[in-house]
Amino acid sequence: MPKLSLRQTATTALTAVGLLALSGCGFTEYPNSTFNHHTDFNTAIDALFQRLLFWGTIVFVVVEAGLVYTIIKYRKRPGGPKPRPIHGNAALEITWTVIPALILVLIAIPTVRTIFQTQADAPAGALKVQVIGHQWWWEFRYPELGIVTANELYVPVGRTVEFELTTKDVLHSFWIPQMGGKRDLISNKTNYLWFTPNVDLGTSAWNGFCTEYCGSSHANMKFRLYTVQPDEFDSWAKHQASPAVFSATPAPTVTPVTPVAQVTGADSTAPAQTTGYVFPSARLATEFPHVIPQTPIPAGLTFDDALLAAGDPARGANEGFMLGGCIGCHAISGVPGAVSEIGPNLTHIASRHTIAGGLYKNDAPTLARWIKNARHMKPGSLMNTIGRGEYDPILKTTNTGGLDDRQIADVVAYLLALK
Ligand code: CUA
Repeated sequence: MPKLSLRQTATTALTAVGLLALSGCGFTEYPNSTFNHHTDFNTAIDALFQRLLFWGTIVFVVVEAGLVYTIIKYRKRPGGPKPRPIHGNAALEITWTVIPALILVLIAIPTVRTIFQTQADAPAGALKVQVIGHQWWWEFRYPELGIVTANELYVPVGRTVEFELTTKDVLHSFWIPQMGGKRDLISNKTNYLWFTPNVDLGTSAWNGFCTEYCGSSHANMKFRLYTVQPDEFDSWAKHQASPAVFSATPAPTVTPVTPVAQVTGADSTAPAQTTGYVFPSARLATEFPHVIPQTPIPAGLTFDDALLAAGDPARGANEGFMLGGCIGCHAISGVPGAVSEIGPNLTHIASRHTIAGGLYKNDAPTLARWIKNARHMKPGSLMNTIGRGEYDPILKTTNTGGLDDRQIADVVAYLLALK
């Protein structure tokens, strides 16, 4: 008997500690929790989860109570009689078959209903977003709005958004925990996912992840979602659909016969630079610090930061972007020849808060190091090592061509001018 009560005490204590730990999980301070009703999808799934938890708890309590009662009441006592052999108990057997069957029905009906609800076609008028997985970053296209961007999604609250999920290479999986719904990106197949961010969300920022192992930088394949007000979204969309204002018109190589104002790369006929809505970085820092990447730059990757202040965007556009080979992989709308879809579209790269699949902050020092040696910053990255004299960890050679720090500073100045 003392042995039994010790085990019981231990079990009770462990259960109590577990429940206490669970009850400590406040939902708001966990930015990647799925237990928030921020979309219709999330609400449906959570309602199902609550129902399963309810029935599971009842089953657990009833079964454990019966078990403990039986163990104590019918335990072996010193000098007690031998147990009486019995065979069969029809009433008991029917009872313990019918009750679980009823419980399964109570679970199955809402489960099937929720599956049909979340797998149905998106309602008419949904905002279409094409999600294209790449090793290891996300391409987002808004076909109706003419937008191509990377790693940062904007959607308006209160409107259903329908994601069309495909992959350029291996399997990936699209997941924004706070929005609900996790769906795979499968080769040669298009998957769909839709949800409606709640209107009471306000302008908010959320984490997104790849949740299907897809190679060495799977864990570094992240993205951000900004749920914004409809007018903010319209402003963002209008700007994102416009070509880059700082266009890379080649600088004149011959001195003109008639004296004209010297053009130094920037297209002097381009309209004044406009900016659309961008999620305010001040709000990110104070209210949504979880979306700001804190990834440290690997030791050994150095850059002469003093050069960044003197970076010449025109020279970066005309010289660095071409010589460095950036144009071979990256599109910039409005720049002739910059149409490749291998790497992320850079048309409005300065309007993004992150680079490298949401792994790093988008600022001049980080961008400079990323251009210099991306593979050192993100294992397996397909982006070439651009820095002259840099060791390429994939090719296992030192780059004897490429750009020096001054040229990279120019490219950084150019990219950060692409608001
Ligand atoms: Cu993409 Cu894991």
